[in-house]
Amino acid sequence: MTLDPNVAAEFVKETAPGFSPRVGIVLGSGLGALADKIEVVASIEYENIPDFPKSTVEGHEGRLILGRLGGMPIACLQGRVHYYEGGNPKDLAVPVRMLKLLGVDILLLTNAAGSFRKKMKPGSLMLISDHINFTGLNPLVGENDDTFGPRFFSMENAYDPTLRKHFAAVAKELGITLHEGVYLHYLGPNFETPAEIRAFKMLGPDAVGMSTTPEVLVARHAGMRVAAISNITNLAAGMSKTELSHEQTLECAKLAAEDLETLIIVFLETLKRELLKAHLRSTENGDD
Ligand code: HPA
Repeated sequence: MTLDPNVAAEFVKETAPGFSPRVGIVLGSGLGALADKIEVVASIEYENIPDFPKSTVEGHEGRLILGRLGGMPIACLQGRVHYYEGGNPKDLAVPVRMLKLLGVDILLLTNAAGSFRKKMKPGSLMLISDHINFTGLNPLVGENDDTFGPRFFSMENAYDPTLRKHFAAVAKELGITLHEGVYLHYLGPNFETPAEIRAFKMLGPDAVGMSTTPEVLVARHAGMRVAAISNITNLAAGMSKTELSHEQTLECAKLAAEDLETLIIVFLETLKRELLKAHLRSTENGDD
């Protein structure tokens, strides 16, 4: 049985009547603390949302928080579902489509990832410029839902160039180093073998992780603007002596978590100012 994002969205609308988030935020492994900074309007456990897939991964709280961050009305998914958890890959379309139905048109994604670059060490942040979906899976396979988007769509500039520019500018202003690069999605749940990492290097990625591309595919299909940041928790398998484990990921996710939180909050404050300016320009021009 496939899950229906309309059912999930209706439930959320009834729980927080009149609240319309503009920005969606997905918090990856070990990044849930940003949620503490939200001025909360409503907080709903995934298990209480009908037709919503549940995350089974430790470090993923499994909670939808509606509220304000950096002055913007947001919907924050504290934890996500991954292909490797099993179930129907189509279910991974539900959280992003639910956000779309709530009014979200800008999606900010975060994840924990391994680095292919020796100089992009644990504790670094990487703005994703493009991705390689190495999983062979896609939540959009199957009958197309025309209410969200067309059967075929472009993935050029999937990671919105304007949002990327904004993020880079905000990082510079804050004195936070923000790398930029390509993210490769590996299915998991195991970490890669060193031989796989050496093979992937030939494809030109900068970071590797087990999430994010499903959300980007679903968001772009629905015409949402996307930005994504990887929190680098380790050098990829075989590139250092550190033994990779989920505990290691969660521990090292803390290194840059605070920088990432600040970056997102200031980005939202800047976005609010930009949207306000654009609105004022359009009303001056008599557009509404
Ligand atoms: N590989 C895959 N996923 C990850 C990694 C990694 O090295 N680090 C954090 N998540």
